[in-house]
Amino acid sequence: MSGNRTFTMIKPDATGAGHTGKIIDKIIEAGFSIKAMKWTQLSKEDAQAFYAVHSERPFYEELVDYMSSGPIVAAILEKDNAVASFRDLIGATNPAEAAEGTIRKMFATSIAANAVHGSDSDENAAIEGSFYFSEREKTK
Ligand code: CMP
Repeated sequence: MSGNRTFTMIKPDATGAGHTGKIIDKIIEAGFSIKAMKWTQLSKEDAQAFYAVHSERPFYEELVDYMSSGPIVAAILEKDNAVASFRDLIGATNPAEAAEGTIRKMFATSIAANAVHGSDSDENAAIEGSFYFSEREKTK
């Protein structure tokens, strides 16, 4: 059975361009409820740890430098079938391939600066949410 929570980050390109409020509006309009949220900035070490699964990929260093370059908004979101539903809302990783009306189509500028992160599985949603939030910070 699919879980009902996912994890997102609004990335430095989007926070820096002033798109944070518009992206949060889109998320709420799509039926997600926010169970935890924080405005923060990753250190290089934080970004390396968060994206450790990609450490062998050629874009890893670029990704780590980019994700630690400015503020991000981290959030845990709830909705039925949350992981798949959120990935539909944000669109393809590469904004050039993202469908009309998706968050990445509207706000992303490149494959690295792609406006938002969305977990790719229920298991990773739980791991990623716990990277940022304690049990006490997650609302029921
Ligand atoms: P995200 O959903 O945060 O998960 C991993 C990230 O790696 C992805 O979004 C992209 O921002 C980034 N990424 C994936 N492929 C590439 C690539 N070819 N070049 C640069 N960054 C990439």
